[in-house]
Amino acid sequence: MKSSASLTNRQKARPPAHTKLTVLGSTGSIGLNTLDIVRQFPQKFRIEALSCRNSIERLVEQIKEFKPRLVCVDTNEQVRELRETFGRGDSGPETVFVWGAEGLAQISSDPEVDLVVAGIVGAAGLGPTFSAVEAGKTVAVANKEPLVMAGELFVKTAKKTGAKLLPTDSEHNAIFQALHDEPPERIARLILTASGGPFRDLPLEEFEKITLAEALNHPNWEMGRKISIDSATMMNKGLEIIEAHWLFNTPVEKIDVLMQRESIIHSMVEFIDGSFLAQMGLPDMRVPIAYCLGWPERLPLKIPRMDPVSLKKLHFEAIDPNRFPCLSISVKAAKQGGGSPAVLNGANEEVVYAFSNEEIRFVDIAKTLASVMRKLDETLQQTATDFADEIPNFLLNIKSLEDAVQADQWGREQARKVLDIGRKVR
Ligand SMILES: NC(=O)c1ccc[n+]([C@@H]2O[C@H](COP(=O)([O-])OP(=O)(O)OC[C@H]3O[C@@H](n4cnc5c(N)ncnc54)[C@H](OP(=O)(O)O)[C@@H]3O)[C@@H](O)[C@H]2O)c1
Repeated sequence: MKSSASLTNRQKARPPAHTKLTVLGSTGSIGLNTLDIVRQFPQKFRIEALSCRNSIERLVEQIKEFKPRLVCVDTNEQVRELRETFGRGDSGPETVFVWGAEGLAQISSDPEVDLVVAGIVGAAGLGPTFSAVEAGKTVAVANKEPLVMAGELFVKTAKKTGAKLLPTDSEHNAIFQALHDEPPERIARLILTASGGPFRDLPLEEFEKITLAEALNHPNWEMGRKISIDSATMMNKGLEIIEAHWLFNTPVEKIDVLMQRESIIHSMVEFIDGSFLAQMGLPDMRVPIAYCLGWPERLPLKIPRMDPVSLKKLHFEAIDPNRFPCLSISVKAAKQGGGSPAVLNGANEEVVYAFSNEEIRFVDIAKTLASVMRKLDETLQQTATDFADEIPNFLLNIKSLEDAVQADQWGREQARKVLDIGRKVR
């Protein structure tokens, strides 16, 4: 055993039983909720690493509060600024600043880290989430897009390395809690619930006039920009179907979506014996995040509690496909499998970006995605012809991260062609 004299100050200050966390995307909505839980349980968790892309001011505050050992930002320039800011040791002298894709891989696979919270938005989380899985970490998966792009690869790699994928999206966490390790053959149906977003009651003829501010105004949840827009189109639910397919080893045909206006029932499992198990509570992302951080224990979380008496009524409705065309587009991609979900996800990120820059209208999102997927179908149908070898493999099968990235880029490029937007693929 080491004598106390040989321990560094940091080691002396750290009680032994902490779960050590990397929070990818610590300045976003998932990141902030995660840090709020860590603040509530300082005796249980210790922040080893944080990351962000642009929100440096917020990150600086987080570094001062949580004193992480590692911090990753987007550019070398930001690293220089942070070194200057913390040059006099405000963050604790041992903070190491890293940057870019390599930096993200480093903080996701660091040997000291026990659990990685995947809270980056979109395909940008693919590399770091995969690094965590390759390193055999426990991963709280909020960032659904990497699983959509390369679900099979994630599941197979986790099996090999012993990594655990903990479902953190509220719907998937509800199913995780309801399933309680029951094997897939006992599942009759997974039912993902959807609030319906801000346009669940808007007359269809008014969809042409929807503004960005209206699309960002979710009725029940406060979330980041991209997921808010995805909730308004219901693409989010489509991505969640693909996510559930991989996380729970359940065929897409056995995954349904129901509207649950109040966002109180977070999802349900119907078992083969006719039993339904649901998880309920107020819409608060701290609940599913804390479930994953504490798993397999539960944490005595300090949050506003649901009063069942005040609920009075819960409403369930079928989804109107005319209102939410993105849902059927994504179900088709999910059933098609191969590179289709990654293509759709890439195209969706591109059109959501264009909509959030006010370059296109809300209704153009679904129209563009439908065109991209038609183009994909035409390309895939070449399999039946002599031109079969011209179809890129990444459209047929995602066998590596590189395949997922290529399918994503293909989807983005097609979306930009449809929209006739000159900017480069991001
Ligand atoms: N928010 C929710 O309640 C919720 C619920 C369920 C699932 N999810 C999923 O969780 C993920 C995160 O969602 P969110 O709402 O927390 O998003 P968000 O608020 O937009 O936060 C995204 C985080 O990722 C960082 N980031 C963005 N682009 C990046 C890039 N290219 N490279 C590195 N870091 C990058 C951001 O840094 P900057 O702040 O510096 O830009 C920020 O820290 C999404 O996949 C979403 O679908 C979210």
